[in-house]
Amino acid sequence: MKKEEIKKKIDQMTLEEKALLCVGRDFWHLQGLERLGIRETMVTDGPHGLRKQEEKADHLGVNGSNAAICFPAGCALASSFDPALAQEMGQEIGKLAQAEVVSVVLGPAVNIKRSPLCGRNFEYYSEDPLVSSSIAAGTIKGIQSQNVGACPKHFLANNQERYRQTSNSVVDEQTLREIYLASFESAVREAEPWTMMCAYNRINGTYACENAAFLTDILRDEWGFDGYVMTDWGAMDDPVECIKAGLELGMPGPAQDNVRRIRKAVEDGVMEEAVLDRAVERILTVVFRYQENHKAVPYDFEKGHAAAARIESESAVLLKNEDGVLPLLEEESVALIGAFVKAPRYQGGGSSHINPYRMSSVWDVAGDKENVSYAEGFRVGADAEQQEQLLQEAILCAKTADKAVLFIGLPDSFETEGLDRKRLDLPEDQNRLVEAVAAVQPDTVVVLHNGSPVTMPWLDKVKGILELYLGGEAVGIAAADLIYGKVNPSGHLAESFPIRIEDTPTYPYYGVERDDVPYREGRLVGYRYYETMHRPVLFPFGHGLSYTEFSFTNLCLDKKEMKDTERLAVSVDVANTGMRAGKALVQIYVSAPRCKEVRPLRELRAFEKIFLAPGEVRTISLELSKRAFAEWNVGLGDWYVPEGEYHIQIGRSAADIILEEAVLVHPTVALRPHFTVNSPIGDIMAHPAAAKVFAQVSGNMMGTEGTEEERGKDMENSVLGKEAMEAIMVESPLRAMVSYVPGTSIEQAEQLVDAINAAVQCGKDE
Ligand code: BGC
Repeated sequence: MKKEEIKKKIDQMTLEEKALLCVGRDFWHLQGLERLGIRETMVTDGPHGLRKQEEKADHLGVNGSNAAICFPAGCALASSFDPALAQEMGQEIGKLAQAEVVSVVLGPAVNIKRSPLCGRNFEYYSEDPLVSSSIAAGTIKGIQSQNVGACPKHFLANNQERYRQTSNSVVDEQTLREIYLASFESAVREAEPWTMMCAYNRINGTYACENAAFLTDILRDEWGFDGYVMTDWGAMDDPVECIKAGLELGMPGPAQDNVRRIRKAVEDGVMEEAVLDRAVERILTVVFRYQENHKAVPYDFEKGHAAAARIESESAVLLKNEDGVLPLLEEESVALIGAFVKAPRYQGGGSSHINPYRMSSVWDVAGDKENVSYAEGFRVGADAEQQEQLLQEAILCAKTADKAVLFIGLPDSFETEGLDRKRLDLPEDQNRLVEAVAAVQPDTVVVLHNGSPVTMPWLDKVKGILELYLGGEAVGIAAADLIYGKVNPSGHLAESFPIRIEDTPTYPYYGVERDDVPYREGRLVGYRYYETMHRPVLFPFGHGLSYTEFSFTNLCLDKKEMKDTERLAVSVDVANTGMRAGKALVQIYVSAPRCKEVRPLRELRAFEKIFLAPGEVRTISLELSKRAFAEWNVGLGDWYVPEGEYHIQIGRSAADIILEEAVLVHPTVALRPHFTVNSPIGDIMAHPAAAKVFAQVSGNMMGTEGTEEERGKDMENSVLGKEAMEAIMVESPLRAMVSYVPGTSIEQAEQLVDAINAAVQCGKDE
């Protein structure tokens, strides 16, 4: 519907009607207005399936919902490193949403994995903003290709479950820009989501839902978002402040008090009616986009189930494969061990919980093979005696087979929305089970079902590890295809697996504070921390094996020197040197020159997954633009590329760089520092224009105190000597002159600073 027509409708509304449109009608619906042809529209969770509730509603996955395809959770999907695959998954979810008459799917969930202990990491994609944003963009495009809106969430800095509704994320601007905003940014710019969900938490003291700097200045004005922003469920603290800041819809409804407060704010002149009109217009633009394009085509569930299996098989990560223990041969006898063989854990708890169309376990697929046996191995809630019995049965089963494959992982209660994890470890009985089986069976493989990293005390005792994550309802089909080699694993870790929780960047303070949550690690999140601090990990970000081998050679840059406004073409030859077809992941990292601040040692700046037949070689070319080299400069309020030599690296993971070439990059923007009376004299002297003014004016001030030569001699004769004296001087603030140069005043120091800043701003720095 055209803007003017929507405006005409708004002109015909009462103040009460406008206010009503800005809060939900009920748990899942937006208010309609029949006399103006506005239908009630429904929104529904997301993110890896559709949780449409027709009866009792809730936001923690407690009550039932219509059957839907449960696709692999975000943790798995991101490991595919394949935005096109994410798009296919989005498309399937969008199709079902159309069939179910749902206008907006509440997802993807795009928060950064700041700590592996966040209870909701299974829904999120990555510790890396490029991966997160690329997978999100694919998902959004897919959903919206079906004329249904997507809703990236939870904007912004919502990275823990503990006190998630009140905590205050204290994050510096550079970290916000480079990590937390960046995770949403290209998804918004590239995929243009219809809506956005604003987080519960505060950011630097202001509720995310009332934060104009993020909702208006950045999201809309900088990134061009033109949909509507809704609150997370129950996150509307002050409806008037929310709407003024650039948020349009408070969910869920009905919230009569919010309607009253909005109406009163306009009546009392606290909020202009035009601001409310703007919110209503933004909501209606999306509502009509859906209403006018909706076609309820029946959904093909069988196709959806098959898609879920395929997506999972492209996402699983082969972490270890000693002596080629995988794939299994059809003629080998195999002991499948663990409760997850028959009842896999395939999704996490909370609002993303899907009522699956059909669950397929590995036993459903491979259980009728004659040479496959089964032992339960562990049972959640079993007592010590039962556990011992299960263990003994498993040992016997493993001993009598050629190989043992253990299906283990985290229980539901360990990772769910609303609760952070307490530890990184698997349940003790499962660790014991692995040790016991590996002790009797040299060819032991572990298949993991978990939404976030776990410790592996038995790592050296097993030959194979396959990470399935929470792989959705068809995980068993994917598992069978992968372990029997029908599909060649091609997933890579989108997060680091630490050795111990004590090694993680946020370890000393994560989950400790309940109110202010300081992001002290800054931009050193995930591999940015491990690599910069040279900390070993269990498995690094980007790691993932295949049943074939790939070689990477001939890294070429199209220039050796460039301005930051130019683009750098990077190419590399990738060859499949093994015997099977497979998919390789090209990972391009950029390592910036050393600087005064702690800058991550390297950052992933481009990636592409490619299929190669045995013996096939392909040259992959990718481009790097300014953002690949830039960091956020707070003084400039913009992206800035420091002068220097940047290393372009090809890695098998963030920790395994195999090729490297350098390029010299020149900034095209001059940094113009702003000095104050507290600026160290050394900083002023380091800037040519500032130093010139300083030398002139301070020389005049000190005129009465002898010549420069005499002052130099005084320094030389001092106990510390000239060098030490000068070193002390450079760290002294400008205002120290007032104390040490007789006759000078603070006003003079301030005048001097003004003169210095004027010279710097005029660009007299060359
Ligand atoms: C979650 C959201 C979810 C909403 C509705 C909230 O508790 O944080 O992700 O979309 O509930 O279920």
